[in-house]
Amino acid sequence: MTREIRPAGGPMLAPHEVEENVATFMRATPVGRRWDVESIENWELADAGRLTEGQRSAVRFVTLIEDHLPGYFAQYHEHFPVTDDVEPQTYMHNRELYHFTVRWAAEEDTHARALARYQTASGLAEPEPLRAELAQEGSKRFSVPYEHAVQYFAYTLVQEKATQIYYQQLRDVVSDPVLKDLLGRLSRDEARHFAFMADTVELYVRRFGDRTVEPIREVIADFRMPLADTMRGYWRWALRIADTARYDHTDAYEHLVRVVSRAVETRSDKMEEMLRFVTSCRTVAQPAAR
Ligand SMILES: [Fe+2]
Ligand SMILES: [Fe+2]
Repeated sequence: MTREIRPAGGPMLAPHEVEENVATFMRATPVGRRWDVESIENWELADAGRLTEGQRSAVRFVTLIEDHLPGYFAQYHEHFPVTDDVEPQTYMHNRELYHFTVRWAAEEDTHARALARYQTASGLAEPEPLRAELAQEGSKRFSVPYEHAVQYFAYTLVQEKATQIYYQQLRDVVSDPVLKDLLGRLSRDEARHFAFMADTVELYVRRFGDRTVEPIREVIADFRMPLADTMRGYWRWALRIADTARYDHTDAYEHLVRVVSRAVETRSDKMEEMLRFVTSCRTVAQPAAR
């Protein structure tokens, strides 16, 4: 099936600005600090018997989410194409962004592979049924059709932060050390992915000011975590895993507010109103049910 190429529009950073943000991201993961599934040597100690029913369910859920990487990765090609579908200046922007995208995708793919490995090593799942389950959800189309470039970065900022927070909280409650170690690795990676998005959104707001307000407001107004609209039983599942560790993507909104606030010294009324709106979209904090 051929996919429609829908390049992102609106104001865009200059290629050299993307290059600088990518370099900052790369510096945060020098070769010696990268990891893959084979870096974890104690898979044979993984034991799903030490997990509660809710924790087992949470691992299965996040494996499905991470395993959708091909769909997320395809979005970058669709909206930031590195082809003659775009003007040379946009191509140069997209080519710089691509350096981030491939590294990010390799890391996310490792997350998917590591979680699947945990499932089979710990006795949570058998390889073939797991492969079939992942294929069923993984093959569904994922799409975030925004108009402005900054919207993709704002969306991903929230989503990476929400995932980081969830992995940290889940890590704090599980008693299988192999899973604890894995969740620590995942949350550190998501924190770096968030940092790249935060640097990018901050620069957008600094450079384009009020022109970014409405696009960012729109992202929050209809925010859905990835797969919320396609995964079978997503909401039931999301609620169930929230019993195990707090799972609320609106926890990430305060980080978006902070990023935007940091970007501008004097906020316009328009900007103030957007920040108030984002804050008002947060779920009223409930202490995590443990
Ligand atoms: Fe991930
Ligand atoms: Fe991530």
